[in-house]
Amino acid sequence: MKTFRVVVLASGAGSNLQAILDRVHLTPATSEGPVVEVVGVGSDRPAAPALGRARQAGVAIAVFRTADFSTRDERDEAIAGWVDEAGADLIVLAGYMQLLSSSFVDRFRGRILNVHPALLPAFPGLDAIGQAVAHGVKVTGVTVHFVDEGVDTGPIVLQRSVEVPEPPDHPLLEAAIHSVEHELLPRAIGLIAAGKVTERPDGTVQVGA
Ligand code: GRF
Repeated sequence: MKTFRVVVLASGAGSNLQAILDRVHLTPATSEGPVVEVVGVGSDRPAAPALGRARQAGVAIAVFRTADFSTRDERDEAIAGWVDEAGADLIVLAGYMQLLSSSFVDRFRGRILNVHPALLPAFPGLDAIGQAVAHGVKVTGVTVHFVDEGVDTGPIVLQRSVEVPEPPDHPLLEAAIHSVEHELLPRAIGLIAAGKVTERPDGTVQVGA
């Protein structure tokens, strides 16, 4: 069976990248699914710890610094060339802090996955955990979704709730959310690789058994 090839874009610590490397990279994701292989990790930050994790795992890295390109479109053309060269089936945004151009999103529609630390459509954008605490919600969570042109608005693949501690404690909540992310994102990749994630005519996503 053909290997399911994944590239990951990450700007920061890369704990989600690590979860992908530990949980699905080069292991059969499900009994029916193909082997998932992380074939490249890209970043906008040359010093991102995520790149160190990739090197450690023997995965090729690439750097696309925004400052090295005159426009976002030009930068994303370079990223698209890298994705094509890697023969990637799926692009995973794991804490990638750059907005992608609409032409990039259009070109890879249904093949770009993001993880967001809230139950979308609540608290999109930056500092979702801080937004949830400030709002006083009792339950928040994690969403894995496909990327569209909006900010955290694309079709939802998986979600799981996380209770906000009482009294609200940002670091404790963040740790709980991260550990759910580390389960949900690799699981979503495995389900997609196994062909169990399909789009309904209304644009929402069905996750099959
Ligand atoms: C995660 O909380 C993810 O939901 C958000 O950025 C953070 C990345 O963390 N998009 P890490 O770099 O994977 O540790």
